[in-house]
Amino acid sequence: MTRRVYLDHNASTPVHPEVVADMLPYFGEIFGNPSSVHAFGREAREGMDRARERVARFLGASADEIVFTSGGTESDNLAIKGLAYARGRGHFITSRIEHHAVLRACQWLETQGFEVTYLPVDELGMVDPGDVKRAIRPDTIGITIMHANSEVGTIQPIAAIGAIAREHAIPLHVDAVQTFGKVPIDLDAMGIALLSFSGHKIYGPKGVAGLYVRKGTKMVTIQHGGEHERRRRAGTENVAGIVGFGKAVEVRARDMAGEAVRLAALRDRLWDGIRARVPDVKLNGHPTDRLPGTANISYRNVESESVVLGLDLKGIGVSAGSACTSGSVEPSYVLVAMGVALGWAMGAVRHSLGRSTAADDIDYVIESVEPIVKKLRGALPVGAR
Ligand SMILES: Cc1ncc(COP(=O)(O)O)c(C=O)c1O
Repeated sequence: MTRRVYLDHNASTPVHPEVVADMLPYFGEIFGNPSSVHAFGREAREGMDRARERVARFLGASADEIVFTSGGTESDNLAIKGLAYARGRGHFITSRIEHHAVLRACQWLETQGFEVTYLPVDELGMVDPGDVKRAIRPDTIGITIMHANSEVGTIQPIAAIGAIAREHAIPLHVDAVQTFGKVPIDLDAMGIALLSFSGHKIYGPKGVAGLYVRKGTKMVTIQHGGEHERRRRAGTENVAGIVGFGKAVEVRARDMAGEAVRLAALRDRLWDGIRARVPDVKLNGHPTDRLPGTANISYRNVESESVVLGLDLKGIGVSAGSACTSGSVEPSYVLVAMGVALGWAMGAVRHSLGRSTAADDIDYVIESVEPIVKKLRGALPVGAR
């Protein structure tokens, strides 16, 4: 059987066995509606309350500041539209390298009469807090900047941006889907009013996530219905998912610091190994202010999709920095915003490591990629190799 190595943890992670164990009763004997007053309902609510407490404790927040949602995408939409609709009109500040859940929510707001500034980033993928400050207008009603980018892993200077936001009394929303449970987040020190985070990036189930909403933040719901989640998100809660999410957070609280050190060493082993064996390679993103488990590596003049498919044949799962849009391969908008030249951007491959990644997996990837890139380059016209 082909060996299998999964290096796409920024896309999703396998559910932790301890999480599965905690969730199982909620598919069986504990099935009540958490809004019901009888014992069946109360049992479900207890599981959900415990999960909310765990998430709140992990963030240093209070339980009533946590809203459970159906995913990071919903959390981002709720934060951005919830802030915007509470005010009716005004101006938002974001960056050009946000996840589509933020970018497209902002673009939607533009169709509704709001204005949005999309800040540039430098060649390492960093937003300049000075640019945030300069973009603030008297009618600015929200700032939304991600904590770490999912493609290149660059970690933004959120505390500096948060200080500016606080100084101007503008709520700061942070999409922390890629950092929550991986690197420390200090809501107060970072000046964060709203924080999005998701279960399936941290060995929890898919389709469950959270939004932290600082007490006193003026926002409205975008999904109307019952009184759930303190009227901030209507709909019977995904109790089993929430219970699993809570357990995943508890496990991360225990494992996060050790894992970060271990993964950073493996990530560096990967980059060192590849650059020692393959010519014309480049690391995208910040060399140090970066997610511990993320390495985005460009092979010049090679199409990343071909590397991804070649590695897939070897049982290795990585993702391409370019995307196929209506038949033609486009470079990643994140790398374009960072000013990465086309010949490099088209050859970007993201490796995202996780719990199961071992040193010999990394060595197997290094050994496997060398002949793949060599072969692809061999097929290029001489001048382009
Ligand atoms: C930075 C970021 N924000 C939001 C999301 C969306 O989260 P979800 O898949 O839970 O909807 C992702 C998922 O890749 C992400 O990386």
